[in-house]
Amino acid sequence: MSLAHNRFIVATTTSFGSGALLLFLIFCLAASLRGRRRLGGLPTVGPSGIFAFPLGMLVAFFYGHRLVEEGYKKFPVFKLPRYFSWMIVVNGPQYLEDIRKATDDQLSFLAFLNEASQFEYTIGPEIMTDTYHNNVVRGPMTRNIGSRFSDLIDEVDKAMGDILKGASEDWTGLPCHKSVLHIISRISTRFFVGPMLSSNAKYTDIMQKWAVHVAVTGFAIRPLPACLKPMVSRAVFDIKEKTREVEAYIRPILAERLEKSAENDNNDDSNDMIAWLWNAAPAERRNVHDISLRLIFLNVTAIHTTSALLTHVLFNLATYNEYVEPLREEIFHAVQKEGWNKVSMDKMRKLDSFIKESHRLHGGEAVGVVRKAMKDFTFSDGTFIPKGSNLGVASRALNHDERYYPNPKEFQGFRFSDKDPLKWQMTALNPEFMTFGAGRHACPGRFFAVAEVKMVVARILLDYDIKLTDEKAGRPKEKWIAGLFVVPDTNARISLKKRALV
Ligand code: HEM
Repeated sequence: MSLAHNRFIVATTTSFGSGALLLFLIFCLAASLRGRRRLGGLPTVGPSGIFAFPLGMLVAFFYGHRLVEEGYKKFPVFKLPRYFSWMIVVNGPQYLEDIRKATDDQLSFLAFLNEASQFEYTIGPEIMTDTYHNNVVRGPMTRNIGSRFSDLIDEVDKAMGDILKGASEDWTGLPCHKSVLHIISRISTRFFVGPMLSSNAKYTDIMQKWAVHVAVTGFAIRPLPACLKPMVSRAVFDIKEKTREVEAYIRPILAERLEKSAENDNNDDSNDMIAWLWNAAPAERRNVHDISLRLIFLNVTAIHTTSALLTHVLFNLATYNEYVEPLREEIFHAVQKEGWNKVSMDKMRKLDSFIKESHRLHGGEAVGVVRKAMKDFTFSDGTFIPKGSNLGVASRALNHDERYYPNPKEFQGFRFSDKDPLKWQMTALNPEFMTFGAGRHACPGRFFAVAEVKMVVARILLDYDIKLTDEKAGRPKEKWIAGLFVVPDTNARISLKKRALV
C-alpha cells in the first residue's frame, strides 16, 4: 500500500470522525434545547455549563445510578440526559400512585420497552402489536406452577447434575453466573416446552443467544434513524433465520399435538407454554411462527432477570455462611411437613426474606416503573410531563433509603421474615419496593421467578455446603451497564461440596 493511499485512508477516517463528532454535537444540542424548552422547570443532575448535555450523557452512561442517587436526595422530580433525550425521574408515593393509575394511552410501558429494546426490530413487530402472551403468563402459566412442580424439581436436579458432573466429595469450584444461567434456562425451557427441549443444549443455547442479541442489538440500533434499524439489526443477527431455527423445534411438537387432539375429539391435555399460548391466541395468530416469537420473547424476559437474582442469592449464601443453618432448618421442616411442592416453598419465609434482601441490596435497576408519555401528562402536584418524555421512579435509591430500611448498606438476610407477607414477601407489590414494578404492568412472571429461585436454593442447601471460591476477595461486586442497569459479577466463582449424610 502506498504512502498516498495511507494518507487518503487517514484523511478519510479523520473527516469521517469529525463528521460523526459534529453529528453527535448537533444531536446533543438539539436534545439540550428541546429539554430546556419543554422541561425547563425541572432540575437536572450531572454536569452544568456549555457542554452540559454531551458531558452529562457520557457521565450518565457510566455512572447514571450515582446521578439518580444524587437526584433522589435533592429533588422530588429531576431529569438526567440519556441517548440524546431526557429521562425524568420522580420520587415519592403520590407520583407512583399517579403512574399506577395512568392508562396505557397516557403513560405506556410497552412503548418505553419497545424504544429501549427495539423489540419490533430485534424480535418482530407482532410482539408489540398484540401482547396476549402477558395474559398467558398472568393466567395459566402462574396457575400451573403448582401442578408442574415435580417436573420443575426434576429439571433442577438434572441441571445440577450437568454442572457438577464428575464432582467428588471435595469442594468443586463453579462459575456461578454461567452455572445459574444453565439451571434457569433448563427449568424455564422445561416449563415452557417440555423435557425434550430442556435437555437439548442446542435449543437452550439458541434461546440464550436471543437474549444477548436483544440486549446488545437493541442498545446499538436505538439511536439510528428508523430506515436503518432493520438493516443493521439483520446484519448483526438475522432474526428471520434465527426464528426459523426455533420454529424447526416447535413445529413437530405442535403438529403432533394437533394430530392427537384431532383424533381425540379436540381434547389436548398438554400443559405447557405452547399449549397455553395456543389456547389464548386469536385465530390469526395460531401458527408456529407466532407461537415461536412469543416463546422467544418470554425467554428473553425470563432467563436473565431470574439468573441475576439467583446469582446474587448464591453469592450471599456463600459470603454470609451464618444464614445457611437456619435456612436449612426452615427448608427441611417445610419439606418434611408438606413435601416438595409449591405449598412448602410458600412457607419458607426466611428464604423468601433472604432472596428479597439480596435483591434489595445488590439487584434492581437504578430507575424502575419506566413509562413513555403518549400525550402530555400532569402529575397530581401539577408537575407537567410533555408528550414523548420517558420517565421512571428511583427504585434502587428507595431500596437504599434508611427511612425505609434501617442500616440500608448492611445485608440483613432475615430483614423481612417477620413482616406482613401481604406487603413484604418477595412477590408482593409495594410502593416501597418496586423490584417487579407497579400497577397493571407489574411483572406477571414474578411468582414463577421466585418459585424457581427457592427450588434451586432449597435443593442446593439440603445437598451441599457452599462457599466463595476466592474467600479473600470477599463478596463479588455487581457491575453497571449503561449506567442504570446492574448485573452480578459474571466471572466470580462459588464452590459446592456434597454434604456428608448423617
Ligand atoms: C427475578 C426475575 C424478574 C424480575 C426482576 C422481573 C422484573 C420485571 C419488571 C420490573 C417488569 C416491568 C414492571 C413495571 O414496569 O411495572 C417486568 C415485566 C414483565 N415480566 Fe418480569 N421479571 C422477572 C422475571 C420474569 C419471568 C420469569 C417472566 C416469565 C415469563 C417475566 C415476564 C414478564 C412480562 C411478560 C412482563 C411484561 C408485563 C406487561 O407488559 O404487562 N418476568 N418484569
